[in-house]
Amino acid sequence: MTTQPRILLFDSGMGGLTVARAVARQMPEAHLVYAADNAGFPYGAWKERDLVGRIVMVIGRLIEVVKPDVVVIACNTASTIALAELRAAYKVPFVGTVPAIKPAAAQTKTGVIGVLATPGTVSREYTHSLIHTFAYHCKVILHGAPRLAEIAERKLKGHGIDLDELKAEVAPVFRKRDGKQTDVVVLGCTHYPLLTEDIQKVAPWPVTYIDPAPAIARRTADIVEETPLKGPDPSVPEHGTVILTSARGSASETLAAYGTMGFPKHMLVDLPV
Ligand code: DGL
Repeated sequence: MTTQPRILLFDSGMGGLTVARAVARQMPEAHLVYAADNAGFPYGAWKERDLVGRIVMVIGRLIEVVKPDVVVIACNTASTIALAELRAAYKVPFVGTVPAIKPAAAQTKTGVIGVLATPGTVSREYTHSLIHTFAYHCKVILHGAPRLAEIAERKLKGHGIDLDELKAEVAPVFRKRDGKQTDVVVLGCTHYPLLTEDIQKVAPWPVTYIDPAPAIARRTADIVEETPLKGPDPSVPEHGTVILTSARGSASETLAAYGTMGFPKHMLVDLPV
C-alpha cells in the first residue's frame, strides 16, 4: 500500500477551502487537514509585524498537531508577508499563494489588469515587486477590498448577499484608460473565488477572472512528489478535519459550511489573539 501524503492547508478563515478543493481534485488520495485561524480573522487589517508573529506561532502549533508532509499557505495575505519567516523557522516544505499577476499579464489583451485583494496584500512590497517584474508593461489597478472576505464567508454560511455592497467592493478594478478597459481580474484573496458568480452579476462588463487554486494544487503535487513522506500516525487529526483556533467559529452554520467543502470533522486548537 502506498503512503498517503499528509497536507495541512492554512488560511485565516474559509477562503483556503477554494485551494483545498483544487488540491483534493489533484490528489484524491491525499490526507487533508484544513486549519483556519478564525481567532485572528480577518488578516486583511492586521499590522505587518504583528501578523508575521501570529502566523509563525500558529503554524508552529499546527505542525506539532498535524505533523504534515507539506504545508499549503492558502492565503495571499499570509503568504505575501510570512513565507520567508516560515521557511526559516520550520523544516517542512511550504507552498504559498500569491496574487496571480504573472498569468494575468500573459492573458490581458488590453493591458489593463485589475487585482482584487485584501488591504494587507495590496500594501505589501511583495505584491508591488510582482507587478514590477511581470506586469511592468501593463496598467495594474490594485484594490484592497475591505469587506469582501467577510462577504464570502457569510455566503458560504448560507446568508444572502447585498449586491450593492458587493458592487462597491469590486467596482474600483473596472477601469477604462485611453479607450481600453480592464479585461482580466486577479482574485488575489483565496476567499474571492467563492463569489465569482456574484461578482459577474455586478461587474460593469465581462472579464476573465483568475483563480490561482488549480496552479497551487499542481505545485503542491510536485512538492509532494519530491518529499519523503512521514507515513500514517494515529495521533494526528483524521482526513477531512478542520482545526479552528477559537471556539467562536464552532457555530453550526460555520461547521456545516466546512462540511460541504470536504471537512466534516472539527477540532479546536485554542490560540487566542
Ligand atoms: N483568504 C485570505 C487571502 O487569501 C485573507 C482573508 C482575510 O483574512 O482578510 O488573502
